[in-house]
Amino acid sequence: MLHRFLPFLLLLILASCNQSASTKAEQKRKFVIGFSQCNTAEPWRDAMNKLMVAEAAKHTDMELLISDAQQDNARQVADMENFIQKEVDLIMISPNEAQPLTAVVEKAFKAGIPVLVIDRKVLTDQYTSFIGANNFNIGVAAGKYAAKLLNGKGNIVEIWGLKGSTPAQERHDGFAKGLEGNPEIKIIYDQDGAWLREKGKEIMENALQRFEKIDLVYAHNDPMAIGAYLAAENVKRNKEIHFLGIDGLSGPEGGIQAVANGQLDATFLYPTGGDIAIQTAHKTLMGEKVEKYIELETSTIGKDDSAQ
Ligand code: FRU
Repeated sequence: MLHRFLPFLLLLILASCNQSASTKAEQKRKFVIGFSQCNTAEPWRDAMNKLMVAEAAKHTDMELLISDAQQDNARQVADMENFIQKEVDLIMISPNEAQPLTAVVEKAFKAGIPVLVIDRKVLTDQYTSFIGANNFNIGVAAGKYAAKLLNGKGNIVEIWGLKGSTPAQERHDGFAKGLEGNPEIKIIYDQDGAWLREKGKEIMENALQRFEKIDLVYAHNDPMAIGAYLAAENVKRNKEIHFLGIDGLSGPEGGIQAVANGQLDATFLYPTGGDIAIQTAHKTLMGEKVEKYIELETSTIGKDDSAQ
């Protein structure tokens, strides 16, 4: 009797195996996260990517795709379009400049893809969450530090980050605020160094030719501050000038080392937030509520701190 039902029994067992195999496959499905990075040439960007990759490796249900826009807005728009078309589960973006990337961030968000904006802002609130340190406050801290170093009097050269990126504007505005109440401190020269060390060096070469008395350089990041220092060193004026940068990256090429070497007077920590970004992405994908604005901590790193 049993042998008549055996084939059906077998089919039933097979079918149930199959079903549990497909449920497992479903459970094992990886979330695909697209990260549109504005460039990978700068060490700070590289550090951010590395932190993300390390953090993502802790989550077996995550696959991280990183694109590199090479400082090109049009390229970054195309990278974003590509992620949208692929229907990734979540997008993270660190936009090269704010205005050119705003529409595509809105497009992704309106398509139902959660979007985390990292470090540089866009000109809309159509995204899930922003993660970054407060650049205005960093600027204020730098302004106060400069006023103290200069004893309330002196000539400053300001080297801007890329003007179309929000940290540059915020670091500038904060700095002006930090200098308030010091009418004898003047910004005698300011130029856009596009966040690049070489440009920082060129700008400082011009400044050194034009001005006999420069007391302090405020650069919106450490690479440009170090570039400016090297320009001053070439004409033996490095000792008479103070240099302030921002980022405080560790490692031999980073700002902390430059403070320890005596090239920079101070730097202000600007964490990349790569690990927090991945943790926030994971929470979002798990359906947990995340804050719209996640502020990363900053601190001032002077000579004594750099030694530690
Ligand atoms: C790297 C960088 C950092 C700076 C940040 C601002 O691309 O230039 O040095 O702090 O971007 O967005």
